[in-house]
Amino acid sequence: MAEQLGTEGVYGSPLRELADVAPGARRFSPLTPGAEALEDLADASLTRIVVAAPPGAVEHRYVLAQALRVLAPGGELIALAPKDKSGSRLRKTLESLGCSVEETARRHHRICQVRRPQACDGLAEAIAEGGPRIAPNLGLWSQPGVFSWDRLDPGSAQLLATLPDFVGRGADLGCGVGVLARAVLKSPNVTSLALVDIDRRAIAAARRNIDDPRASFAQADLREPAPLLTDLNFVIMNPPFHDAGAEDRRLGQTFIRRAAAMLKKGGTCRLVANIGMPYEAILAECFKTVTPLGQRQGYKLFEARK
Ligand SMILES: C[S@@+](CC[C@H](N)C(=O)[O-])C[C@H]1O[C@@H](n2cnc3c(N)ncnc32)[C@H](O)[C@@H]1O
Repeated sequence: MAEQLGTEGVYGSPLRELADVAPGARRFSPLTPGAEALEDLADASLTRIVVAAPPGAVEHRYVLAQALRVLAPGGELIALAPKDKSGSRLRKTLESLGCSVEETARRHHRICQVRRPQACDGLAEAIAEGGPRIAPNLGLWSQPGVFSWDRLDPGSAQLLATLPDFVGRGADLGCGVGVLARAVLKSPNVTSLALVDIDRRAIAAARRNIDDPRASFAQADLREPAPLLTDLNFVIMNPPFHDAGAEDRRLGQTFIRRAAAMLKKGGTCRLVANIGMPYEAILAECFKTVTPLGQRQGYKLFEARK
């Protein structure tokens, strides 16, 4: 018998005290491994959805347009965001998509409630604008909302400028759309490269950007302690230091721990970090030798050997 899927959904992680989410609601998020993709849902599939609206302008409009697309006419959309992170433009965005909006404010959030009209305005355009596409500055597949989606991150540029010729089995942790991995795979001595990122959109873009049988792709949360990979010769990474929009220095430290756990004895980890990031102590704790490779333009680079 076909599984009966629910008709209530929740996108992202809205503050529970600000919006009721049904216990059986289907979970949608590009940033939670295992969550469904809103993009994959047929039109008019849901009767209610609660959306934690993302901050970036194009992604914000895209997610709200997707939420309206998957709602049946008359269905309820509750959208919320902190006032200073796109909450202040929620109402305007929803009105521009053809909705009548009731808005309230609580705990520094704006909360908008709408009933999906029979016909919305501009959904297809908003969805096309926020969907996967080639970012001209990168010349690569990307998507608004992905890390540094339309330009090379200056820290990654520093790492690229000092890449050694890697050898053997490796991983690119927090791979984004695959900028570093593409450079690593230029070495014929690399036998395999695992690209790992928490962002499903980044992994989907990386798959399109890298056509190489040595590459494998995984959407995974590297905060999970279960070993994803073992016995690697090398790891490359530009570790994140933001979680859900807030600075979290422990995230980069966790990446360093995971890299060390994945490497074989003698394996190396190359990483770049903003100069202010406190990574030296954790590098010294996890690796046998740590070689600083210099500081440039606000970034510091390391090679750590296990
Ligand atoms: C600083 S960006 C680097 C991206 C890419 N390597 C580049 O150079 O453009 C860090 C990446 O880590 C990913 N990330 C953040 N938290 C993560 C987590 N808990 N597990 C896995 N990846 C994560 C982000 O989605 C982002 O793509």
